[in-house]
Amino acid sequence: MFTQTMLESIKKVESTRSARIGAVLERMSAKEKEELLKAYHPDHREDGFDTIKIGPNAGQKAPCELVKLLHSNSRILNENIDLSKIDYDVDVLVIGGGGAGASAAIEAHNAGADVMIVTKLRIGDANTMMAEGGIQAADKPNDSPVQHYIDAFGGGHFAARPELLRRLVMEAPDAIAWLNSLGVMFDKDENGDMVTTHGGGTSRKRMHACKDYSGAEIMRNLRDEVLNRKIPVVDFTSAVELIMDDKGQAAGAVLLNMETGDYLVARAKTVIIATGGAGRLHYQNFPTSNHYGATADGLVLGYRAGAPLLYQDTIQYHPTGVAYPSQLFGALVTEKVRSLGAMLVNVNGQAFMHPLETRDVAAAAIIRECSDRKLGVNTPLGSGVWLDTPMIEIIGGEGTIEKRIPAMLRMYMNYGIDMRKVPILVYPTLHYQNGGLEINGEGFTNTIPNLLVAGEAVGGIHGRNRLMGNSLLDIIVFGRNAGKKASAKAKEITLGKLSLSHLEKYAKELEEAGIATDCVSPMLLPDYTRHER
Ligand code: FUM
Repeated sequence: MFTQTMLESIKKVESTRSARIGAVLERMSAKEKEELLKAYHPDHREDGFDTIKIGPNAGQKAPCELVKLLHSNSRILNENIDLSKIDYDVDVLVIGGGGAGASAAIEAHNAGADVMIVTKLRIGDANTMMAEGGIQAADKPNDSPVQHYIDAFGGGHFAARPELLRRLVMEAPDAIAWLNSLGVMFDKDENGDMVTTHGGGTSRKRMHACKDYSGAEIMRNLRDEVLNRKIPVVDFTSAVELIMDDKGQAAGAVLLNMETGDYLVARAKTVIIATGGAGRLHYQNFPTSNHYGATADGLVLGYRAGAPLLYQDTIQYHPTGVAYPSQLFGALVTEKVRSLGAMLVNVNGQAFMHPLETRDVAAAAIIRECSDRKLGVNTPLGSGVWLDTPMIEIIGGEGTIEKRIPAMLRMYMNYGIDMRKVPILVYPTLHYQNGGLEINGEGFTNTIPNLLVAGEAVGGIHGRNRLMGNSLLDIIVFGRNAGKKASAKAKEITLGKLSLSHLEKYAKELEEAGIATDCVSPMLLPDYTRHER
């Protein structure tokens, strides 16, 4: 199960454990954090980034892999798409079948709109489903949305768009109540009150969870609600370009049936991009905690139509991805493991940071430990540090791991590792795109009328780093908001003649910038035959 070197290191972890229990670890100063991030966070590695040459963000940097997609050709440039043949005609078209898309569709349906979801896999095949640790909301007497705002604003390096963060925290308690009413089984105590814990960078215990499968439980309920309401879901069908009209408004999308290869036309009075993240682009060759479809499709669609990106150069590497066993490489080890008391320790069993620093800081500290300090533990695929999980059983009492993080226990048990008895090896994994399409406080893009964005495809809600549990929250808050706003707006809209002329314009820009490429985007599915690690 473990190599000899690992076993020797585990002995050191065990020998320092009792001294570490109850020890108060100092937080880093702002200056220490800044220096650490600059030196070790992947966002500061120049070779991971390229300059965008065309479109609204021309001249700005973005991860090389994303720039490549933005500099690619449209899949349908040379396809004769007949826009007069309408396959679907709706008020609200939701692109994406994750938590944001489902929440948007439910609210649009609630408002009486004719709404349809299109998704390239199946409804629920999304990062939402993979979320583990929980969802934040300030709904306890010792807490407030203001406190939540302060934590998230600081954690995001004061870069969050205030109007977006305000909506996130103010609507959080209602989001929890809504999910509870849909049937989400949140952890509750014997009195029926919600159990809450800390996450990295939180000043109050406001993480609501469904053990360590919070996202799966939330998505299960959202999906049931969509299906029970009989909202049409067109699955295994990708949106490959937005359709505009001759008034410059968003007016639908060209869809690709992934099974037959046929193109279809969906006309819509309002369009919501809820396509999620980009983990499967494996920025800087990092492994990822993301689901198979996380390929930044919505960013490409919106950008080609003229919607700017915001903070596209800032990525979240979750500090604790699985470093060993190799079969689980990059899978998420929820932050809740640290919330419950597990410390991060190096090869010598020394704790090298407070376990609940914000994610960017924690990831950078682990990378420093494993690189310059050479205090990581060697693994077949690189190195990692220990997350001392037996501490949880000592601090919280025997049975805590099975009760609070049973999925994690099971995941490791499948490989013969009992995390109640031995520590586990972790290393940062590509987890979340902090940046995305820019929206205003109402959820609309500023440049394309009737185009909304929700969920991970949005940039600016969290600033330049996101706190744990604020993503499950943003998909609900901004998903619901987008559904309400899109359905209301659809009532006012008269569409003009459908057009794809923005694609020709984009192709011309590519040519003028001297970009000759055979690549097409959106990527739709990752291509592991080309991926080098
Ligand atoms: O660590 C986690 O459970 C992840 C949560 C999140 O990204 O919000």
